[in-house]
Amino acid sequence: MTSQDAAAAGTRGGTPDTAGEPPSFDTSIAHPARVYDYLLGGKDNYEADREAAEEMMAISPVVVPTVRANRAFLRRAVRYLAAGAGIRQFLDIGTGLPTAENTHEVAQAIAPECRVVYVDNDPIVLAHARALLTSTPEGATAYIDADVRDTDSVLREAAKVLDFSKPIAVMVLCVMQYIPDSAGPHQIASRLMGAVPPGSYLTMSDTTRDIDTEQMTTGAARYNARLGPNQFTPRSREEIAGFFDGLDLVDPGLVPLPQWRDLADPAVRIPAYAGMGRKP
Ligand SMILES: C[S@@+](CC[C@H](N)C(=O)[O-])C[C@H]1O[C@@H](n2cnc3c(N)ncnc32)[C@H](O)[C@@H]1O
Repeated sequence: MTSQDAAAAGTRGGTPDTAGEPPSFDTSIAHPARVYDYLLGGKDNYEADREAAEEMMAISPVVVPTVRANRAFLRRAVRYLAAGAGIRQFLDIGTGLPTAENTHEVAQAIAPECRVVYVDNDPIVLAHARALLTSTPEGATAYIDADVRDTDSVLREAAKVLDFSKPIAVMVLCVMQYIPDSAGPHQIASRLMGAVPPGSYLTMSDTTRDIDTEQMTTGAARYNARLGPNQFTPRSREEIAGFFDGLDLVDPGLVPLPQWRDLADPAVRIPAYAGMGRKP
C-alpha cells in the first residue's frame, strides 16, 4: 500500500478507522504497540495495556524517560541518515502507532523525495496506518501488515516501493526485544541486511538487562505475564552488539541510548542501547 492507494488498506486483524466500531482483536491482553502508545501519552490503548504500563512505571521510574529517549533517538538517527549519509529510502520495522515526528516526516523534512515503508504486526497499528501515509508528493510512504520474522514477505512487499539496488536504512527500534531467542533474532537481522546493497544502514535500539538488572528482571517477568505471544526479552550489550556483525559501526558505536550523537548526561541511566551500522 503506498500513499497513493492508502484507501486500499489491508485488514488482516483490525478494522481501519475504528471510530464507533468494536475492535476485532483481543483487548484483554497487553500488546507492545498499545503499551508504548500509553507510555508516550497516546490514546490508542486499552485497560490491559494501561495496567501493564502502570505496573512497569511503578517498578521502574525510568520507563517513561526511556520511551521518550527512544523517540528522540529515532529523530536523531533519521536526521543523520537523511542529512548526513544521503539516505533516501527507509524500511521502518516495528513502527508502532503513529505519533509525533514519524520517520517519513523527519526524513521528508530534509529530503522530500524520501521513500518510507513501515512494517508492524499489530492490528491496531494497521487500523491507524493512514496517519503514516501522509507522504510528500515527491516521495512515497507505504504500510505493510507483517511479522518481522517473515522476512520474505517483508522484503517482497517492501520491494514494491523501495529500490533494492540503492541504499536502504533498515530501522528496528525497540523491536528485537519482542523476538525471543528461539525465533532467531540475529538471523532475522542478517537476512534483512543481506537483502540490501552496500551503503545501507541498520539502526537499532533495544532494551538491555545490563543496566538496572534487578528492576529490569522483575519488570520483564511481570510484563511478560500480561503480554501475549510477543514476549519481552531484554538482552545483554554483547547480544545487542551481535546484531551489527559484519557492519561498520557509525560513531559513537553501540552506546547507552541517550548518548547516541547527543550530549545526554551519562548519569541518567536508561536501560537501552542504541547503534547504527553501515553495510560495507
Ligand atoms: C516498543 S514499540 C517501538 C515502536 C517504534 N519502533 C519506536 O521505536 O518508536 C515496538 C513495536 O514493535 C512491534 N512488533 C513487535 N513484535 C513484532 C513483530 N514480530 N513483527 C513486527 N512488529 C513487531 C509492536 O507491535 C510495536 O509496534
